[in-house]
Amino acid sequence: TITRLEDYRPPDYLIDTVELDIRLDPAATRIRSVLKIRPNPAGRSGAPLVLDGDELLFHGLAVDGEPAPPDSYEATPEALTLREPPAGPFALTVDTEVNPSANTKLMGLYRSNGVYCTQCEADGFRRISYLLDRPDVLSVYTTRIEAEREEAPVLLGNGNLRETGEVEGTTRHFAVWHDPHPKPAYLFAVVGGDLARTAKTFRTMSGREVEIAVYVEPGKEDRSHYALDALERSMRWDERVFGREYDLDVFNVVAVSDFNMGAMENKGLNIFNDKYVLASPDTATDADYANIEAVIAHEYFHNWTGNRITCRDWFQLCLKEGLTVFRDQEFSSDERSRAVHRIAEVRTLRARQFAEDAGPLAHPVRPTRYREINNFYTATVYEKGAEIVRMLKTLLGDATFARGMERYFERCDGTAATVEDFLDCFAEVSGRDLGHFKRWYEQAGTPTVTVGTAYDPQAGTYRLDFRQETAPTPGQPDKAPLVIPVLLGLVAEDGGRLDCVSNNLREDGLFVLESATDSLSFEGVRSRPVPSLFRGFSAPVRVELDLPDSDLLTLLRHDTDPFNRWQSAQTVALRLLTALARDPSQAPRDEFPDAIGAFLDRSGRHDPAFTAMVLALPGETEIAQEIGRDVDPDAVHAARDRMKAALGHRLGERLRSLRDAFPPEDRYSPDAASAGRRALRNAALDLIAAGDPAGGERLAAEQFERATNMTDRLAALVTLSLIPGEVRETTLARFGELYAAEPLVLDKWFALQAAIPEEGTLARVRELMNHPAFAFSNPNRVRSLIGSFAMANPTQFHREDGAGYALLAEAVLALNGTNPQIAARLLTGFGTWRSMNAPRRAQAQAALERIAGAPNLSPDVLDIVQRSLAPT
Ligand code: ARG
Ligand code: ZN
Repeated sequence: TITRLEDYRPPDYLIDTVELDIRLDPAATRIRSVLKIRPNPAGRSGAPLVLDGDELLFHGLAVDGEPAPPDSYEATPEALTLREPPAGPFALTVDTEVNPSANTKLMGLYRSNGVYCTQCEADGFRRISYLLDRPDVLSVYTTRIEAEREEAPVLLGNGNLRETGEVEGTTRHFAVWHDPHPKPAYLFAVVGGDLARTAKTFRTMSGREVEIAVYVEPGKEDRSHYALDALERSMRWDERVFGREYDLDVFNVVAVSDFNMGAMENKGLNIFNDKYVLASPDTATDADYANIEAVIAHEYFHNWTGNRITCRDWFQLCLKEGLTVFRDQEFSSDERSRAVHRIAEVRTLRARQFAEDAGPLAHPVRPTRYREINNFYTATVYEKGAEIVRMLKTLLGDATFARGMERYFERCDGTAATVEDFLDCFAEVSGRDLGHFKRWYEQAGTPTVTVGTAYDPQAGTYRLDFRQETAPTPGQPDKAPLVIPVLLGLVAEDGGRLDCVSNNLREDGLFVLESATDSLSFEGVRSRPVPSLFRGFSAPVRVELDLPDSDLLTLLRHDTDPFNRWQSAQTVALRLLTALARDPSQAPRDEFPDAIGAFLDRSGRHDPAFTAMVLALPGETEIAQEIGRDVDPDAVHAARDRMKAALGHRLGERLRSLRDAFPPEDRYSPDAASAGRRALRNAALDLIAAGDPAGGERLAAEQFERATNMTDRLAALVTLSLIPGEVRETTLARFGELYAAEPLVLDKWFALQAAIPEEGTLARVRELMNHPAFAFSNPNRVRSLIGSFAMANPTQFHREDGAGYALLAEAVLALNGTNPQIAARLLTGFGTWRSMNAPRRAQAQAALERIAGAPNLSPDVLDIVQRSLAPT
């Protein structure tokens, strides 16, 4: 069935309170739920009450304490219907039973490594008990959790702890948690297990004391400190920057090893994929530390953007996710280097969201229909959703944006809101009509902005001609112009300042493109300018502008905007790479390596993290996107390989001396500056090895042995993984043995082997699927091995013989029954199949059709496979 935005109706009933009694048991957990229900004045009166369920075992029902007569209701695993509910408020008591150990979908109540935990977003609560499981039904929850003390000494719920005790005459104990803040069911959570706790006290801005704690597997306490520290910094930052204070006496974070997504913002009880909590220098990389910080912040920030203000319906998912990603990006930018973080954000956006927008799964940031909402936790909703908020800030200016946020927090607190509610706040404080801007939420696809330039030296005038266009996407053949903020500046050819005036430009360099075409003119332009457009990536668009390479290199050298300094080098590289991929008979020329060399001489040591970014060539996905159609991934890979080799060859000496300039530090610290130095050292290693495999192999092998942290060790192994031979194989084997007891480290080992761009990788992946540490039941293992093969190894996944597609199809079908969410997620690996060349397209289509024809497809998989195959 398809759910449509335009069909939204308020619920017929409201549930003011939910009282749960959960008796945890591995195979037969019993749940008693007492719901205080009343008719919704805004709903249809006298309607039957239909509560949602999913695979529930029903045990009984009472209305106002009286057992309900059998013909007054119907109970199936999927729904509990009360045919004629009382006309006024009433209490409904429902008994259900679930089997957490058999719950392989990891939605609802399940067990991970023996720990009971829950995942209720988007619609998992109905797998615990019957309820109006929709985000616009807000209730106050009280949860009693009971378990064997030995099995689950720790019992956690939402809100504040009210009571604990023994169950007389048994080996069981209980805890009662009460959450005073009304919330939708998707924010409900319980945890029970043997967990170790790291905690501290946080004093909020108004002086209240909050116990903040991180729970991990016993023995891993020393890996929880960084997450706790990141949590404390997040709380402080949200007070300082957004004026948001925490609102309960406790805030708990629990790490579990089997988790479908990254983490979940359950009220007062965040549950995390342990990969985003556990960190130690020996097991986590700099990237892991940065991700932990970002995800901890993200989930914490949801307390206001998501929990206090929630979503009216799931079409509004971007209301909480886009906004919260924007907030976590701002946090990371403040805690680290803003410029470097922005570049990293844009790299992910292009690799994931632009790719999504260009393929059969393209959808608006606010979709208007869905068959399976869990398939819409996408880069578009999250990352493009964040870009929309960022554009709003750019358009309105910092101060007005801040006032809009203030109004949003004030007005919508305690409600289930919509994108319109959000935009209204900004329209009011700015006095502007945001109706046109709202199209960003409604229209799918990445706009292309084409820019022409005209300089008249006699008249001293300069003109920029803009044209915007968005290609059709599924279900949206015709596109309208969007409101596109263009932050820009003009740079003199010699790098100096260019004084000139323009009619249409805001003081800070903002030009707003609102129609299909528009121009911007400058006067008093005394020398030929080099335009620096979309500074800071001011809009999520593709830009077409035919600047000569020499102009781009001027920007690399002189632009005041660090993002565009980086972008200009990327643009030159991308041009060369696409030309090389299209015509392999060309030889890479030395201009680009020489320009990068000059950059290194000039400023390579100033900001190592930034330099590392400049040294990293655009990825294969990005090159393929630029080519657009009939892509030959082998040609793309070969082009990139040759260019890397050329860089390494030409710059080898400089790269080695850069490495020497930043020798490994004695003591590992995850701070951004130290991480930046490691990033540069390892980016240099990567290029050195590309230019000189034998020398690179020696260097990498030595780094592998000497490394005192996982960042350097893994970087060495990645470099080695690209150099076939004895050293690679023995080092890989050694790494596997060294970390045999560390699942999260083995994930890295699986992932890097699955990404080796060689024909033998398919067999290697199949072999690793039989490795004792691999399990289809664990999402992290699946993502690291199969996900990495499909998403990080274009040449092998898109093998011309179709064997890569067949492997993915097999994995999807293997997971379809046990964990449909993960199966559907893997299946999105086919997302770019239509842009491949004809033989690959045929193979991909055949594989997709095999999946489509398989019996018992889950709604999750069916949805993705049908959209992937739909005619364009
Ligand atoms: N709200 C979570 C977040 O922080 C994502 C949970 C999604 N889970 C799911 N099964 N769809 O982004
Ligand atoms: Zn989120």
